Parts: sequence; C-alpha cells; structure tokens
Amino acid sequence: QGGPVIAVDGPAAAGKGTLAKRLAAALSLPYLDTGLLYRAVGRLALDAGQDPAAPAAHFAETLTPEDLARKDLRAPEVAAAASKVAAQPAVRQALVETQRRFAAAQGAVLDGRDIGTVIFPHADVKLFITASPATRALRRFLQLGGDQTAPGAAAQIAEMEDALKTRDAADAGRDVAPMQVAADAQIIETDSLTADEVLALALAYTRQRL
Ligand code: C5P
Repeated sequence: QGGPVIAVDGPAAAGKGTLAKRLAAALSLPYLDTGLLYRAVGRLALDAGQDPAAPAAHFAETLTPEDLARKDLRAPEVAAAASKVAAQPAVRQALVETQRRFAAAQGAVLDGRDIGTVIFPHADVKLFITASPATRALRRFLQLGGDQTAPGAAAQIAEMEDALKTRDAADAGRDVAPMQVAADAQIIETDSLTADEVLALALAYTRQRL
C-alpha cells in the first residue's frame, strides 16, 4: 500500500524545495511543499487584519486549493507570518492529516521542518538539508534576481540573513514540532555543493535505502 515517503527538512532557503522537487521527479513521486500550507494560513491571517500570533486554526481548517495557489505566498512578510502561525499547536494539528493523506496513495516527497520528526516519524528516507546563514541569504538574493555588484547589495543580503536567522530561531525554538534533525536523518551540508551535486548525493542515499 502506497509508495515510499521521503522527508526533506531543514532551515529556510537551504535548497530543500529545489532538491525535493527534483527528487520527486527522478523517483516519479508526488511532491508537497508543506511550507506553502503555513504560508497560506499566514497570508489569510494578514488579509483578515489579524496579528499572526492570534489564533489562526480556523484558517488552517478551511484551507482551499485556491488559497495554496496564490501567487503572493513567497513574500518576506508572508514567511514571517507563516512562522508565527506555525508555532500554534491548533494550526499544526489542523494540517497533520492533510500532509499524511497526501502521501497515502503513492508515497511522496515532502519538504518542511517537522516531516521526519512529527508528520512521518517512520519515513523511508529522511534528509536534513542545511547551509550557513550567509550562503542561504546570498542564494535567496540571487534567486530573487539581485545583482551582487549593485550598490546596496551587501546591506540587502545582510538584511535577508537577519530575517532568515530570526525565522530559524523561532522555528527551532518553538514548543510544538520544532525544527530539529531526526536521529535517523542524513544531513547534507550544501555550502560548497551545486544543486546538481546535492541531488546526486540525495539520490544515491535514497536508492540505498529503498
Ligand atoms: O519552508 P518555508 O520557508 O516555505 O516555510 C515557511 C514557514 O512555515 C517556516 O518558517 C515554518 O515556520 C513553517 N513551517 C513549519 N513546518 C513545516 C513547513 C513550514 O512550521 N513543515
């Protein structure tokens, strides 16, 4: 029943999404970006004029495919709001079944913070993708089309690094489902690796385990 479950966890902008998507394609598995669920809830809280720290479970309980398809979920203010609603136990609880059901039929690759620890503690493969804050900030800057040689670039990159660190600290420090490395996860440090190299390492490890 069902195919393999592959958990890809790690901090913000470490390259989890890129890897998980490519891994899923290589293994013909469905892919779910679980961060999008929390981003959508954060977005709805902001739209309602609500402080993202205020109770937001009702948004998680009634999330629609349209909410997840919105184009504005990648904005920095949405990421910050996502991290705040994600600290609420009732919000996380409302999203557990959605994530488990996603993988029920055919297995899946899921990326997030607590996939290998809480959502699928018995996942067939667990990867923890990480890189230094400086590397992650620079990658995010370039990904958004930034020019490293432009005036003010260094300040912008430093600002992104601060925002990433703040969010990581909140995600790792919360009481419920904090971001942590599962005991049986394979850690991949991506500072000195290209996306192709990360994929090759992840695929080799995955094929060994399946
Ligand atoms: O991965 P992404 O940056 O899109 O996630 C946005 C926020 O959603 C994270 O900072 C984290 O607080 C939350 N999140 C989570 N658990 C997951 C995925 C995301 O708490 N599985």
